[in-house]
Amino acid sequence: MNTRIINARTIDEAVLRKLKEAAEVIKRGGLVIFPTETVYGLGADATNSEAAMKIYSAKGRPSDNPLIIHVASPSDAELYTQVDPVYYKLAERFMPGPLTVILPAKDIIPMQTRASLPTVAVRCPEHPIARALIELSGVPIAAPSANLSGTPSPTKASHVINDMMGRVDVIIDGGDSDFGLESTIVKINDNGELTLLRPGKITVDDLLTVVDEVQIADAVINALSEGETVLSPGMKYKHYAPKSPVFLLDGDSGDILNYIRDAALTEKVAAIVYSEDIDTLKEIAPEVYIYNFGNKEDEQTHARLLFDILRDTDKHSFARIFAPLPKQSGVSLALYNRLIRAAAYQIIRM
Ligand code: TXA
Ligand code: MG
Repeated sequence: MNTRIINARTIDEAVLRKLKEAAEVIKRGGLVIFPTETVYGLGADATNSEAAMKIYSAKGRPSDNPLIIHVASPSDAELYTQVDPVYYKLAERFMPGPLTVILPAKDIIPMQTRASLPTVAVRCPEHPIARALIELSGVPIAAPSANLSGTPSPTKASHVINDMMGRVDVIIDGGDSDFGLESTIVKINDNGELTLLRPGKITVDDLLTVVDEVQIADAVINALSEGETVLSPGMKYKHYAPKSPVFLLDGDSGDILNYIRDAALTEKVAAIVYSEDIDTLKEIAPEVYIYNFGNKEDEQTHARLLFDILRDTDKHSFARIFAPLPKQSGVSLALYNRLIRAAAYQIIRM
């Protein structure tokens, strides 16, 4: 397949014309990769079952892992789902933005889009290019992250081009993703409380400004045990793992740096390191390949850099990659959730 790349950093007349062409591709059942504020999405008409199937094959994604439908305005959810008063409370506070809500699906959303579930995930993105594309298409756009299944979600056009060139009709290059981790996903329970299925930029504390209770699904933090059922099918797959094995280090920074130094005596290692610790590590272990993770308290920077760093490690052949174990609060819960998967739950405590 010939893939057309469209440059769209801001919306002007020329870009709008190209976005209209991309919207035509969606309407005709084609595949268009577009930027969002979280990560790039691989989009197709969510109401077209054949188009939805194309998404799975382009990504190499198992067809039992459902897609998120992207709408231009929060109230469009009414066309495709049974909305609930709690949805509107969430929408008022967080939409457009990086929040996805699971709702009972209407029949107009084909089984292929929602992997035969009775529910469907709805998100109204904030990114102006994403919004324009959905509006111009006139249909909801089903879009998983635009990576090959198993690799980290793409946060730069170069990531998308690397994974998807020749597999889709159009790639819209909108520059780097603002946030860099996928949206927060919640399910509304019968009592009006929420269950967090995937942590993201909208934190548990943010959600608690709207509802009284937020339960955190077990799979957000823990490895699934054999045969355990999952609330969100995506949680059971191997995710984000680079080619070299990742180990998370839990301890104070002195112990962590010494551990990395000792490992580097016998093997080629990479370390994802907070800015504050870089000078020390360079001094005690000059052979370590260092990735700057930003300041220790700057979780937004960690979120923005993580997937790019994980992808970059594949250009080298490290025996091991070390990263600090994130906290389980605020935006760091999202980092924790992605990193423990990248590390296949291998945590070294000291
Ligand atoms: O930020 C994002 O959410 C990005 C951008 C492109 O919007 N999209 C994204 O999609 O991350 P994807 O497909 O990579 O992740 C969607 C997750 C999967 O883990 C899937 O299992 C879950 O949402 N999901 C989708 N529909 C669901 C449903 N009906 N019930 C439970 N989980 C669902
Ligand atoms: Mg994904």
